[in-house]
Amino acid sequence: MKIGFIGLGKMGYYMVRQLLAKGHEVVVFNRSPEPVRKISREHGAIPAASFEDLVKQLETPRIVWMMIPHPAVDATIGTLVRLLDAGDLLIDGGNSNYRETIRRAKELQASGIHYLDVGVSGGLAAAETGYCMMAGGPEEQFRRIEPAIRDMCVPGGYGHFGPYGAGHYVKMVHNAIEYGMMQAIGEGLDLIQNGPFPETDQIRLTDVWNHGSIIRSFLMEMTHLGLRHHPGLADVDGYVPNSGEGKWAVEDAKAYGVSMPVIEQSFRVRLDSDKIKTYATKAVAVMRDEFGGHGVERS
Ligand SMILES: NC(=O)c1ccc[n+]([C@@H]2O[C@H](COP(=O)([O-])OP(=O)(O)OC[C@H]3O[C@@H](n4cnc5c(N)ncnc54)[C@H](OP(=O)(O)O)[C@@H]3O)[C@@H](O)[C@H]2O)c1
Repeated sequence: MKIGFIGLGKMGYYMVRQLLAKGHEVVVFNRSPEPVRKISREHGAIPAASFEDLVKQLETPRIVWMMIPHPAVDATIGTLVRLLDAGDLLIDGGNSNYRETIRRAKELQASGIHYLDVGVSGGLAAAETGYCMMAGGPEEQFRRIEPAIRDMCVPGGYGHFGPYGAGHYVKMVHNAIEYGMMQAIGEGLDLIQNGPFPETDQIRLTDVWNHGSIIRSFLMEMTHLGLRHHPGLADVDGYVPNSGEGKWAVEDAKAYGVSMPVIEQSFRVRLDSDKIKTYATKAVAVMRDEFGGHGVERS
C-alpha cells in the first residue's frame, strides 16, 4: 500500500524502513531534511519537501502516519487538515494523551477526515525484530491500515482495542507498567550494590538472570547491556526524565479510584530524581537509554 509518513526520528525512520522492506510505497516528510534524503537514497522512500508535497504525492483516499512527539501533534494536524480531504485517514503513532486523541478525533469529524491512534512499543531493538502496536478508533479504518501494521510488527504483536483513544490508553498503561518494572529491577540491584555482598558481579548476575529465571525479560536484557556499557554505573548521573505516560496513568488511576502504589511511587521517584539520585535511578536511566535511545546524563 502507499502511505505518507511524517517524522523520521528514532522510531519513525526504522518503521518506514520496515514498510519499504515489505514492499510498501512510503512518501516521507521530516522537519529537518537529512533523514528524508538518507532514507530515500538508501532505502527507496519517496521524498517530500513539505506537507503539501507529501499530500500531493498520495492518491485519495490517502493514509498519513504521524510519528512525532505529542506536543507537536496539534500544529501538525492544523496544517494537514487544510490539505487532506474527507475520507482520508490520519494516524497518530506517537505517545499522545488519550484524552487529547479523543478531542482531536472529534474535531476532525467535521472535515470527514478519519483518525486512528496507534501506540507503538518495542523501542530501538524493534527496528530489527519488529514492533508491537495497539490501535484505537473505528474498526473499518483499522482494517485499512492493518496490512501495513502487520508488516511492521512481530507475528501476533498488534491488535485493535476499542474506539478513539483506546490505543493510546493501553499504550499509556503499558508504559506505566514499564515504570514499575524498571524501578523494581533498579531497586533490587541497589540492594545488591549497597548490601552485604557489594562485590557481586552485576554484569554476570543480570546475564544469569536472563537464562531461565522468573525475572528474565527484555528489560533485564537492557539492564545487562546498560551495566556493560556503564560499569558500576559510575559515569551515570541518575536523573530519569519522564515523558508523560506515567503521570497520565497516575492521574487516571486517581480519577477512577484505582489503587496503584507501585506505579505511582516509581513515577514519584523519577520526578524526584533531579535531586535524589540512587543506584536504582541510575539503573533505570541506563535501561531507558538502551531500549529507547533516550540518552544518559553523565555524572
Ligand atoms: N523512543 C522510543 O522508545 C519510543 C517508543 C514508542 C513510542 N515513542 C513515541 O514515538 C514518537 C516519536 O518518538 P521518537 O523516539 O522517534 O522521537 P525522536 O527521535 O525525538 O524524533 C522525533 C521526530 O519528530 C520530529 N519533530 C519533533 N518536534 C517536531 C515539531 N515540533 N514539528 C514537527 N516535527 C517534529 C523530529 O524531527 P527532527 O528530525 O527535525 O527533529 C523527528 O522526526 C513520540 O511520540 C514518542 O513518544 C517513542
